[in-house]
Amino acid sequence: MPHDEIPGLLTERPAKPAPVPVEEQRGPAQEGTLRELPLGGGTRPATAERPGELALTTVGAGGRGRRVETAESMARQQREISVSEFFSKNRHLLGFDNPRKALLTAVKEAVDNSLDACEDAAILPDMDIEIRDLGNDRFRVTVRDNGPGIVRGQIPNIFGKLLYGSKFHRLKMSRGQQGIGISAAGMYGQLTTGKGILVITRTSARKPALFVELRIDTKKNRPEILREGEVVWDFDHGTEVALELSGKYQRGRQSVDEYVRQTAVANPHVRIRYRAPDAAVTVYERSTGELPPAVEAIKPHPHGVELGVLQVMLKDSPARSLQAFLQQEFSRVSARVAELICEKAALSPRAYVSRINRSQVEQLLKGIAETKLMAPPTNCVAPIGEAQLVKGLESVVPAAFYASTTRPPAVYRGNPFIIEAALAYGGEGQEGDQPARLFRFANRVPLLYQQGGCCSAVAAGHVNWRNYGVQQPRGSLPMGPLTIVVHMASVWVPFTSESKEAIASYPEIEEEMTLALQECGRKLRIFLSRKKRDAEQDRKRNYIQTYLPHIGVGLRDLIGLSEPEELQVVSTLETLLERARD
Ligand SMILES: Nc1ncnc2c1ncn2[C@@H]1O[C@H](COP(=O)(O)OP(=O)(O)OP(=O)(O)O)[C@@H](O)[C@H]1O
Ligand SMILES: [Mg+2]
Repeated sequence: MPHDEIPGLLTERPAKPAPVPVEEQRGPAQEGTLRELPLGGGTRPATAERPGELALTTVGAGGRGRRVETAESMARQQREISVSEFFSKNRHLLGFDNPRKALLTAVKEAVDNSLDACEDAAILPDMDIEIRDLGNDRFRVTVRDNGPGIVRGQIPNIFGKLLYGSKFHRLKMSRGQQGIGISAAGMYGQLTTGKGILVITRTSARKPALFVELRIDTKKNRPEILREGEVVWDFDHGTEVALELSGKYQRGRQSVDEYVRQTAVANPHVRIRYRAPDAAVTVYERSTGELPPAVEAIKPHPHGVELGVLQVMLKDSPARSLQAFLQQEFSRVSARVAELICEKAALSPRAYVSRINRSQVEQLLKGIAETKLMAPPTNCVAPIGEAQLVKGLESVVPAAFYASTTRPPAVYRGNPFIIEAALAYGGEGQEGDQPARLFRFANRVPLLYQQGGCCSAVAAGHVNWRNYGVQQPRGSLPMGPLTIVVHMASVWVPFTSESKEAIASYPEIEEEMTLALQECGRKLRIFLSRKKRDAEQDRKRNYIQTYLPHIGVGLRDLIGLSEPEELQVVSTLETLLERARD
């Protein structure tokens, strides 16, 4: 609402009113209000120390001795909160709510960054992940990549400042998106062990490797460098991040081991060497030498934009005319389409961007909604691909049958996305009397927590698996020797919280997930019915082979057949039965 529309707002500052005695200020209405206060308070007369201060105090047994704030005393306490202070108090929002999860989150943030950096630089990732148990529930996590490295000037802000990164302001599929991840891991380490984060990085063989040890000044959300210098390092380029933290190592479904294993499923192009705290080393060799297809950053699509966002875009845009603004800031808006939007919005295409007021922004939004637009471009999202997904799954889940599906691109809130699903059925390691396992991925990152609140689990529970020959308790995951994979690839994954653990249930996303799972389910049904038919055939063949010789002997005894006649009868019967069996 523009200020001139606020009822009662005076455009001119009124002259300072003459001081009114407190008793007079309190009219009948005010008295009524005061009487309604739960503590049954009265008013405290203004005093010489608090001139003109209208503050409430409490009287009566319940309120005696209670400290009462005034607007002025509250003003003295009101101040800005630094984002790092906020997140150090609310570390659960970032995935550091218990020691086991904290260990996982720290590894995950470093690995996600490494994979993003390698892929942005078109380098096949070679990762080294090490966790050392230092005793007393302390661990040292070291993650090394062969990525492009980080230039010296950026190191402090990347690792020592929350909300600093390269991915937040672009619409491009990547694992990270917020600019919080690695600095939050460093901050958690610092809070629990008092130690800073150590970074070694090198951008080329011609340049020295640098090391920087730093911590975050949480009050100011600023980096503090503790030590830095050059270091001898065996690698030509890449980054190594090491931090100490309080944590807990426990094997199982939500462990670092499982995260690394599932990372190999969704990233068959990555080689990972993982050393667990118990010194067990696992190597996941890459099953393809091909990098995922390159993805482009896109501009937002007009159909997803909200009023407030549009206002900010108008304010920030260097464009002068409305038509130029629409063309430059959005995808799928040509000069002709921009004109059309302006026409539907009843605004001039030549209108100055800087002069568009709030009600005109509303008109513009209406114009956008009424204009038919091409769907957003989809070269900004790259699926894993049906074949690659099966390859990745084969390397960690041995099974009798695999199916996978990549859906065509779709759009939620103007953001393009692609859903993929896969199934692995049967095999030694999968138990038949347990609910299916669900592997959830967002932009190739395994999601191990908050399954119940994730759109993928909701979709998997809504699919009617009984149609595909698998048992299913109503509304839940199916039962059987089954692993279900759901992957969402998008320029912006709508996570339910900053810890990026679950995907929010947008109807468009849930529908795509359901369709992808149903497609896989149909392939599973074909496999299972063929399997059933084969089993039935085997059973019948067994009958024939078990009982026919006895029939031959019986006939010989009963009607006195010679041995050649008996063989002849048995062979004719066998042919007849085999034909009937088919
Ligand atoms: N190993 C690395 N190699 C190269 N650049 C890196 C590496 N790690 C981090 N960066 C850079 O540091 C930035 C900040 O990383 P950070 O993890 O804090 O945020 P993010 O990855 O952008 O988003 P998110 O909070 O979702 O993880 C990244 O955007 C990237 O530009
Ligand atoms: Mg990150």
